[in-house]
Amino acid sequence: MTTLHSPTDVSPEAVPALPPQVLVLFGATGNLAQRKLLPGLLHLARAGLLPEHRIVGTSLEDIDEQQFRELARQACDKFARNRVTETEWAEFSKRLTYVPQSAGPGGLSEAVTRVEGELPGLPRRLHYLSIPPSAAGEVVNMLAEANLVDRARIIMEKPFGTDLASAQLLNETVHEVFSEYQIFRIDHFLGKEAAQNILAFRFANGLFEPIWNREHIEHVQIDVPETISVDDRGTFYDSTGAYRDMVVTHLLQILAFMAMEPPTALEPRAISEEKNKVFRSLQDIDVRNVVRGQYEGYRSTPGVAPDSDTETFVALRCVIDNWRWAGVPFYLRTGKRMAESARIISIAFREPPKSMFPANSGVGTKGPDHLTFDLADASKLSLSFYGKHPGPGMRLDKLSLQFALHETGQEGDVLEAYERLIYDAMSGDHTLFTTAEGIERLWEVSTPLLESPPEVELYRQGSWGPSSIRDLIAPHVWRLPFERGWRQSR
Ligand code: BG6
Repeated sequence: MTTLHSPTDVSPEAVPALPPQVLVLFGATGNLAQRKLLPGLLHLARAGLLPEHRIVGTSLEDIDEQQFRELARQACDKFARNRVTETEWAEFSKRLTYVPQSAGPGGLSEAVTRVEGELPGLPRRLHYLSIPPSAAGEVVNMLAEANLVDRARIIMEKPFGTDLASAQLLNETVHEVFSEYQIFRIDHFLGKEAAQNILAFRFANGLFEPIWNREHIEHVQIDVPETISVDDRGTFYDSTGAYRDMVVTHLLQILAFMAMEPPTALEPRAISEEKNKVFRSLQDIDVRNVVRGQYEGYRSTPGVAPDSDTETFVALRCVIDNWRWAGVPFYLRTGKRMAESARIISIAFREPPKSMFPANSGVGTKGPDHLTFDLADASKLSLSFYGKHPGPGMRLDKLSLQFALHETGQEGDVLEAYERLIYDAMSGDHTLFTTAEGIERLWEVSTPLLESPPEVELYRQGSWGPSSIRDLIAPHVWRLPFERGWRQSR
């Protein structure tokens, strides 16, 4: 049975030794590779979590090995979490090589075979497809032509397809070349420490699960506003939009962790089964319950069509039609260029049926009790409730119990999501990856929205999105911006 172990809660020597690996990174000069994958691999190497390995970068850029190493160095200097020393860089970079896509399957095969010759035994291959969904089928076929399928696993980036038909076609194409056990469809939100903590919180405690249902929960919000713009990703983003980029992947995956029944074991099949049941109970997205927004000025981003109606913001109400959640709305929101960056799940509990407190006591005036997960790398958790304000009479204040990972001294042990997932894929652990069935079902429920999207509404940069989002959530209110900030550690 595969277990959901955290590789850093034990010393690297205690982590099971992995066989040597050759990582082939498609899209090696792209935004994700620079921001996350190359710095992440460097971190894994520094933490002693990479076995003996070589990294072969490839992309459409006609650059050579030296230029790739320079690009990787700049990316690591900019995005790695700690300063990169010369010794560390020398160790890491001597294992980096590059072959342009123009070299074709022959060139790729030659580059991989050459570096494999430098490693002992028969190394495993890990192909990381950090490329748009439209290019994925072609790369899979190229890997077959290059004869790089044996001993290989393949990580496929999201979005996996752009709608039901394309996801089914992509699954068919990949299955013609790779077996399911070789395929790792990545959704990096599931690699976040805080996302996995939802599983621990729900299923390792007897306290919360009994109230985790329609009897006690009034509604749920999954809210991921971002201050960043589309930046240099105009071309990708304009053909993708916020719904495909964030909702059909990350937010709905998090929703499954929140909403699923207790899995029978902490292993991939049991977890996927429960997540897929949630997806099967998810009702088709009703376009009347969706607000699409676009930030002012988006259309002048390089790569974006001047008359684009792609959404950079989306908010929606989802319905899970099963016994546990009937009648409990799930509100999802995400967008670029918003007022704040945050990633929260907020659970609003039902209010008591009767109150003995006088109207001027303050009871109920600060909203219902909430359980809030902050999905930041240094995750936080808060449970808010009404309590007595000290002194005479009975005045009620909103109080909270809070947990912050950074107060435990364990923050340094956190693996960034991509690091964790690359490590898991190398270990063959599918627990935190998504399945073909799950993804196809999510595209299926999305079809009404993809086919008849509501008009995009413009919103001011630095705002919380179009004003119609208030009607979407009424009679409830959006939790963000918080009325009270998180408690700062003393
Ligand atoms: C990516 C999206 O998958 O997730 C980006 O393509 C988004 O648009 C990013 O900004 C958010 O991830 P994180 O880990 O920074 O919250």
